[in-house]
Amino acid sequence: MSRTTPPPRRRRRALLTAGVMTVTALGTGTMLQGTASAADFACEVDYSTNDWGSGFTADLTITNTGSTAANGWELTYSYTGNQRLAQGWNGVWSQSGQTVTVTDTGWNGTVAAGGSVSVGGQFTYSGSNAAPTEFTVNGVVCGEDGGSGPGPGPGPGPDPEPGDRVNNPYEDAGVYVNPDWSANAAAEPGGEAIADQPTAVWLDRRAAIEGGSAGNSTGLREHLDNALVQAQDHENFVFQVVIYNLPGRDCAALASNGELGPDELDVYQSEFIDPIAEILGDPAYADLRIVTVIEIDSLPNLVTNVSPRATATPECDEMLANGNYVNGVSYAIDTLGDIPNVYNYIDAGHYGWIGWDDNFGASAELFAETANTGGASVDDVHGFIVNTANYGPAVEPHYDINDSVGGTSVRQSEWVDWNRYVDNQSFAQAFRTELVSQGFNSDIGMLIDTSRSGWGGPDRPTGPGPLTDVNAYVEGSRVDQRFQTGNWCNQAGAGLGERPEVAPAPGIDAYVWVKPPGESDGSSEEIPNNEGKGFDRMCDPTYEGNPRNNHNMSGALPDAPISGHWFSAQFQELLANAYPPL
Ligand code: BGC
Repeated sequence: MSRTTPPPRRRRRALLTAGVMTVTALGTGTMLQGTASAADFACEVDYSTNDWGSGFTADLTITNTGSTAANGWELTYSYTGNQRLAQGWNGVWSQSGQTVTVTDTGWNGTVAAGGSVSVGGQFTYSGSNAAPTEFTVNGVVCGEDGGSGPGPGPGPGPDPEPGDRVNNPYEDAGVYVNPDWSANAAAEPGGEAIADQPTAVWLDRRAAIEGGSAGNSTGLREHLDNALVQAQDHENFVFQVVIYNLPGRDCAALASNGELGPDELDVYQSEFIDPIAEILGDPAYADLRIVTVIEIDSLPNLVTNVSPRATATPECDEMLANGNYVNGVSYAIDTLGDIPNVYNYIDAGHYGWIGWDDNFGASAELFAETANTGGASVDDVHGFIVNTANYGPAVEPHYDINDSVGGTSVRQSEWVDWNRYVDNQSFAQAFRTELVSQGFNSDIGMLIDTSRSGWGGPDRPTGPGPLTDVNAYVEGSRVDQRFQTGNWCNQAGAGLGERPEVAPAPGIDAYVWVKPPGESDGSSEEIPNNEGKGFDRMCDPTYEGNPRNNHNMSGALPDAPISGHWFSAQFQELLANAYPPL
């Protein structure tokens, strides 16, 4: 492989991350720059938004109120908050600081006298979202017409009726803020900064359906009723719930072992999935978009952690042999998929697990087999989620898998170790393609859990590493500061990742916060409990590892409570190391 030059790569990455695909696709060279002179040009701009609390779409209509046609136009305006452009349409959109610039695409450059042209953009924000007060087109300040508020105008397409299953449930939707997590976050110093972020509700045992127990104080119905209240401010609303209670749960680790034994498939079906389906199917909740995250850390274990591999565990061998992961997941997607407003996303591990050739195709095949088991079909699967409760970055900004140093591919570095991917977004996009080739619908979408994938703080690299040798290059480039990508428990140095965001990149439905930041992954020493949770040495900071993390130190924080319980020290570290910073 030839040596690659970092600058073009970095530029491409930045554009992809920001999601401003129109800029890449059109290039700034295609803009039409001929403009009517300022003297005979006059304009009005109508600005309206559809706001869901953490983001919004803006529709702008420029009307030429002058007496001459404009041949080419450039609109600028400024926000006063932290509104950030995610993508735009019908124009070439860019943002510098608080100033947004939209130029014509070429095909819509001519605006006759009295005519108008409409553009749309999508933004994220936090805090307040005041409408801009002044618009300038071709250097002329426009007379205002209209203000903020819902209004007609061009958008990504006609809005479906609430309740119809849409392609991307996060599009134009508010997302449920879990009051239990939010209260824990808000009670922490500095925690108010993120306490209004949406995180998932975890159904991690039968008792969580009713609620009332520690860590699951609010039951499913109460959450859904809360969601209906939160939904009042939104045209569409997403409720995110994790379905996590398989028989023989988490066969390759102990920290999140569950309450059901390996053979208790019937209990899983009748006492867990059926009651959940009954509640989710209640017509009272029919207008919510219910996103289900199906069974973390299950199916890929049947590929990677079974005999004769060195990484095998007896428990995963058993779950492969008895079929209860496959039967449990297929039952869950079949039963929940019958509810028209449920969107099933199956957990697909993460790049540092499934990204190797041995695991990639085999995992996709197993997902396809599972989706065709029992009464299930691929139509029950809306998409897949990667990096749930894990720590891998969505995007490694300073290097990518095609880089090489002195003819040696980064795949040969100790860190990458022949993986095909260096981050979760590139993995998710490629895995999506693989899943479609295995028979899943071509419009499946991916989610990425970015709740703890941030890796900010003073040690974060700010550019590519030295080109002295491939290891120095990767070590100097990577923002992920773990000892090894197989490390998963309460990782020291991690920060909050990208805030929840809709459609951040092609094929990705959303960045989501599924693992609630501040909830432990597992205790750092044995703690007796009645939740079925074991003690996994991967959560012990003194542990020197096993074949599944290639015998590295665990990298875990000390003094952690059992999984799911509040871990203040970790929450504080996640805040401090947030990237993007808070
Ligand atoms: C635990 C669950 C918990 C979830 C969210 C998992 O690791 O096993 O009990 O609900 O994390 O914090």
